[in-house]
Amino acid sequence: MKVGVLTGGGDCPGLNAVIRAIVRRTIGKYGGQVLGYRYGWAGVMHGNTLPLGMDEVSGILPRGGTILGTSRTNPYKTEGGPEAIKRQFESDELAGLIAVGGEDTLGVGYRLYQEGLPIVGVPKTIDNDISGTDFTFGFDTAVHIATEAIDRLHTTAESHNRVVVVEVMGRHTGWIAVKAGIAGGADLILIPEIPFTLEEVCDVIRKRHGRGKNFSIVVVAEGAEFPVKGEDGENHGLVVKQGGTDAFGHVRLGGIGNELARAIEADTGYETRVSVLGYIQRGGTPTAFDRVLGTRFGVLAADLVQERDFGKMASVTGDRIIPIEMSHATESLKRVDSELYEVARTFFG
Ligand code: F6P
Repeated sequence: MKVGVLTGGGDCPGLNAVIRAIVRRTIGKYGGQVLGYRYGWAGVMHGNTLPLGMDEVSGILPRGGTILGTSRTNPYKTEGGPEAIKRQFESDELAGLIAVGGEDTLGVGYRLYQEGLPIVGVPKTIDNDISGTDFTFGFDTAVHIATEAIDRLHTTAESHNRVVVVEVMGRHTGWIAVKAGIAGGADLILIPEIPFTLEEVCDVIRKRHGRGKNFSIVVVAEGAEFPVKGEDGENHGLVVKQGGTDAFGHVRLGGIGNELARAIEADTGYETRVSVLGYIQRGGTPTAFDRVLGTRFGVLAADLVQERDFGKMASVTGDRIIPIEMSHATESLKRVDSELYEVARTFFG
């Protein structure tokens, strides 16, 4: 039985653990073959393949990134894309394809499944915003990296009596911001789920400085909406970089940290700096948690293909790895709950 695998969307620590698990399980337990597709859905459309045997996955468990490469290619935005994929399935004689990705990659996978292709999903994103699973691998690594950065920024902020704004990733949700912010003892955490005003931000900082603390750490998710004052009062808007949208219609976020730092300094008079963590959160070796989660997801996905249980994706609930409908990945985003944010809020100011 030949099993295909691709990794799509932004890369994420733990992808190689998934690939290795799929290969080891499919070959070791079932005596099957695995065919990798390079650069996400682009590899299936163009027949860009990489046969994966035991040698190809040897030593990749601790490596960041993905040995298959990745892209944000959307076959449904490419002339003849889905048809090319269907032809490729036939010519490669695939028994099933495992798509490892976030809402976009899994959304394409689910659509192709509905059109008759044998597809299984593995959810991935450092943002941790996929519904139906407690965690996605990559998130734990990103939180560790951001927490370490916040720890380091604390000592320099304190030495200089500065406010430091730390911009972390999180396109639609503030999971990294909240978890790393709590772990790093942030004085304020701003996320897409909870609107804020500049006045509130500056009040928190002023009060803190008023009780003798001469520095503050503000963690902000890149997708939080920056309160811009328009003629008709206060408007909120995303801060984006230039460069249009990707094939799934997403703008390139980034820059809210700078905007916020400028506004805080102008309003409070406290010297304010910004640190944008960016891709550092996605690069490098995965934590043990992400290696184990990726491995368990990969093993389940390989089993689902053998059982011909298509249209499902791996998920984790508590410590149980279970298959759920792939449609969960696209139905709605998993947002930070108010209970967790309330815990964070306890330490503001
Ligand atoms: O979806 C994960 C993510 O890391 C987001 O947090 C971020 O907005 C986006 O990817 C950036 O992706 P790109 O690699 O396209 O710049």
